[in-house]
Amino acid sequence: MALFTYSIMSHLLRLSANKASVLRTGTEGKCGAAVCLQFIRCQRSVDTKALQERQKQHMAKGLPRQKPITGVKQVIVVASGKGGVGKSTTAVNLALALMANDSSKSVGLLDADVYGPSIPKLMNLKGNPELSDNNLMIPLTNYGVPCMSMGFLVDDAAPIVWRGLMVMSAMEKLLRQVDWGSLDYLVIDMPPGTGDVQLSITQNIPVAGAVIVSTPQDIALLDARRGAEMFKKVNVPILGLVQNMSVFHCPKCQHQTHIFGSDGARQLAHTLGEEFLGDVPLHLNIRESSDRGQPVVVSCPQSPEAQAYRQVASAVERRLKEVNT
Ligand SMILES: Nc1ncnc2c1ncn2[C@@H]1O[C@H](COP(=O)(O)OP(=O)(O)OP(=O)(O)O)[C@@H](O)[C@H]1O
Ligand SMILES: [Mg+2]
Ligand SMILES: [Zn+2]
Repeated sequence: MALFTYSIMSHLLRLSANKASVLRTGTEGKCGAAVCLQFIRCQRSVDTKALQERQKQHMAKGLPRQKPITGVKQVIVVASGKGGVGKSTTAVNLALALMANDSSKSVGLLDADVYGPSIPKLMNLKGNPELSDNNLMIPLTNYGVPCMSMGFLVDDAAPIVWRGLMVMSAMEKLLRQVDWGSLDYLVIDMPPGTGDVQLSITQNIPVAGAVIVSTPQDIALLDARRGAEMFKKVNVPILGLVQNMSVFHCPKCQHQTHIFGSDGARQLAHTLGEEFLGDVPLHLNIRESSDRGQPVVVSCPQSPEAQAYRQVASAVERRLKEVNT
């Protein structure tokens, strides 16, 4: 079986870029050689037709052309406007909690953060995906969750310099060229912000719902609100808000401190008329287990932290039923 490596990826991206330039030079060559009037007229009508065709394509681009991911029943995106609020940690533990709540459910994880992929570390996975017989990438699996990430395709040390269209091509490949088998849920860990990647995902695939993560801090809440508004604009149902790092339980004296404020995300959910999906405490266990690549839901399933994620997962499932009926 072949491996999907960084060089194959660059090769594919270069191929599509070259194709476009070959087409362009072909047309220019013909124009230069055309001297007879008839040919020019004929060329004009071809140009008009081509122009109309291009306009049609542009208009079609404006409309969402969402195509489901083969084998995937429902896509859940985990997002926030702001960076570093705990999207990836939430995405990973949510995927595992959905399975812990109902072992008959199959769940996959897609890391959409092409600049700063986190899933390989959080899920303790590395290596290049193998290619299936029909040239699709086979996800790497740990804890029963198949995962796909840009981190599997580029070297750890290599600077990720994907820009503009290249990022979009990479994203398209992560969305379309993966053999997920059959999944009840695909959880997508979104990059921070409300930019091109977020838009491209919501326009390319049907998203069953968005989970917005925020800390209770004002600055994160502002960005969370922006995130929620973006999903509303593109008609993605918002499943609700998760308040992360709400309360710190001192492991020594059991004192509770609201480092980032106490109830900001709950209040924001109320203001926006969205559901509050749950509270995840700021806990050393969550940070340490994440860094070890042993997410708390699997490494300490009985802990209050793991229970918090399982409650969020139950709320997510309940909301999915609500918004899709
Ligand atoms: N509830 C929590 N308790 C303790 N640490 C946490 C908690 N949630 C997240 N962290 C830690 O905070 C850091 C940032 O979390 P994470 O990478 O999940 O954020 P992110 O929103 O995905 O960031 P980015 O925007 O860079 O993708 C990590 O070190 C993670 O272990
Ligand atoms: Mg992240
Ligand atoms: Zn203390």
